[in-house]
Amino acid sequence: MKPLLFALLFISFSIHAQPLKWVEVANGIWKGSVGKPEVYDLLKAADVKPNTAGIQKLPASTFPLPKTDVIVRFQDGKTYLRFPLEREEQLYGFGLNFQTIHQRGRILRLHVDHYGNSDNGRTHSPTPFYVSTKGYGVFINSARYLDVYAGSNVRKDSKNPPELQDRNSDKNWSAKPYSDAVEILVPAHGVEFYVFAGPNPMDVIRRFNLFNGGGCLPPRWGLGFTQRVNRLYNADDVKQEATEFEEKGYPLDFIGLEPGWQSASYPCTFEWDKGRFPDPAGFVKEMSDRHIRLNLWTNPYVSPKASIYPKIETYTASHTVWVGAIPDLTLPQARKVFFDKFEQDHINIGVSGYKIDEVDGYDSYLFPDVTTFPSGRSAEQIRQTYGLLVQKYSTEVFHKKNRRTYGLVRGSNAGGVSFPYVIYNDNYSHQDFITALINSGFAGVLWTPEVRASKTSEEWLRRMQTVCFSPMAMINAWSSSTKPWSFPDVANEVKEIAQLRMQMIPYWYTEFAKYHFEGTPPFRAVNLEEGFVSGSAKEKNTKSLEENPYEEALNKEIKDQYMAGEYLLVAPVFTGQTSRKVILPRGNWYDFYTGDYAGNGEIITINAALNKIPVFVKDGGIIPMMQPMLHAPELNQKVDLEIRHYGKKNSTSKLYDDDGETFDYEKGAYSWRELKAEKQADGQWKGSISAPQTGKPNTIANVSWKFMTK
Ligand code: GAL
Repeated sequence: MKPLLFALLFISFSIHAQPLKWVEVANGIWKGSVGKPEVYDLLKAADVKPNTAGIQKLPASTFPLPKTDVIVRFQDGKTYLRFPLEREEQLYGFGLNFQTIHQRGRILRLHVDHYGNSDNGRTHSPTPFYVSTKGYGVFINSARYLDVYAGSNVRKDSKNPPELQDRNSDKNWSAKPYSDAVEILVPAHGVEFYVFAGPNPMDVIRRFNLFNGGGCLPPRWGLGFTQRVNRLYNADDVKQEATEFEEKGYPLDFIGLEPGWQSASYPCTFEWDKGRFPDPAGFVKEMSDRHIRLNLWTNPYVSPKASIYPKIETYTASHTVWVGAIPDLTLPQARKVFFDKFEQDHINIGVSGYKIDEVDGYDSYLFPDVTTFPSGRSAEQIRQTYGLLVQKYSTEVFHKKNRRTYGLVRGSNAGGVSFPYVIYNDNYSHQDFITALINSGFAGVLWTPEVRASKTSEEWLRRMQTVCFSPMAMINAWSSSTKPWSFPDVANEVKEIAQLRMQMIPYWYTEFAKYHFEGTPPFRAVNLEEGFVSGSAKEKNTKSLEENPYEEALNKEIKDQYMAGEYLLVAPVFTGQTSRKVILPRGNWYDFYTGDYAGNGEIITINAALNKIPVFVKDGGIIPMMQPMLHAPELNQKVDLEIRHYGKKNSTSKLYDDDGETFDYEKGAYSWRELKAEKQADGQWKGSISAPQTGKPNTIANVSWKFMTK
């Protein structure tokens, strides 16, 4: 055959759809694969076992998409993937976005980076996973930068084309005609991808999270309060700050030390600074005796002055970050030198966790894509997975010691669902921080809207209120040295919200256990609420949209209110607002503080008193609470519970319990206690809790009930 003819034949074969094989790898999860998928991908980097028992408990389902409408082919040396879209579908996900919830119509390049004020795909966790309101999800298992056209363009061969419109004569002409597909380019000759069934979007997310091992279960202390101190504090400054917290009665569970604990930083030595911390072991022990744990900031770039430098140098990249060597963490030799240092110098003396900085971007700081790594993996693949690797291997050290950790990281990706790390950044827009909190639930990650400095006491309090309703209640005062009481006119209100955070630990802990065992994200969009989905645009209205603003609202992006666990809807207030609108999904909702009825399937306007963050509870909501202790309960410590019930519905719910600190729950050392609230014949409410299970940890002492709705 003539070479030209052969080439033409090859090209025409490649640009035609490739046959696709689907394999159901777990209940309601199908794997498709085409060409030669690369050996290194997101799931390989994370290397986590799916929780198949959890997945098995979800409803069985048939393949949720028309199979023949999933098209794959090779073009331009890349793999092209197409998934169908119907008219009413909305899409969520594609990573930790900060300004948008609805992703239909968007064009993104998924790339690990520090968020730079626009949702273009560059973010701390560009998770290549999306969920449709139709109740299915798609995940592309590739550690490459992916180009995504999420229903943004129209093909000539569309089976379902938009109407042709004439702008000259048609006032309804749209610059964005309807597109019937999500199209993705993967820069590799083959890829593996997954389709997740529902039936509803929440089940899709559950399947995705469980497939990635289930969410992390932090230790109880991780859900308390944390303060990150000034970057150059010494041991005495830190002790003094802890004393102030105690004397002033503000809760505190762990303190974060910023760069100055190390003898040099940017790049790092991973060694204690002898001047500021002359006796690290004694210091960590003294703090731990005071019930305060320590978390260490670091970035992973190794200073030539570090004692591990000569041992790790061979296993580092061609380029540097701040002149520090970049360990190739895909190599066991590099990991051993690197994490042995963490183990010996920090974890063995009682350090509770890390804040792993600078594993996301910006490009000008991090290694360029021309960098080479000794493993032969590309810089692009390492960039997409570096955050996963540092999370995975640091967690393993703690796991070996049977101690849970809970820390911070700036980069992650699909595969990282089970790693006990919370993402943060330097952006500091309060509004964007809340939108990110909503999107974290679609991206398989946790996010904290950290508090740093504030211009006014109003802003300080508003930010404190939202961070206390997030995965990590944290002040990050590394440069501002701000303390909870720094604004005297709101110091009491700040204390109250920090105390409320502590009181709610039993609730938070149970919601995280649901994340772990059932895959339900603890912080998430109201769009995932049943009462919300049933009110979606598809439903027939008797009234027009103008007369029914609630229906209209459901079609808009909701970026400023979110669900915190099963029962709570949080509606943050931003600086300058004195009132706000809240969209309450269908079903009765009650005020968290008073128990009063608030609304049902409607938009309400509330006055936003400065001292409270508006929170609403679903009918039948059961919120287990404890005393506002200064430190979270320690290993197996028993506490009294006050269990609140809201609304008019009889209800049952479950409370998770284990020792609070070890990984023994992996071997079955945990229990779910049933909580029941029932109205009696005489109109009185009665609450009960099932008996503790013999042989299981039991941290519950006395239980009392409070029926909030009169
Ligand atoms: C930044 C980080 C901050 C703080 C600072 C210390 O990169 O985002 O939270 O840790 O480094 O130098």
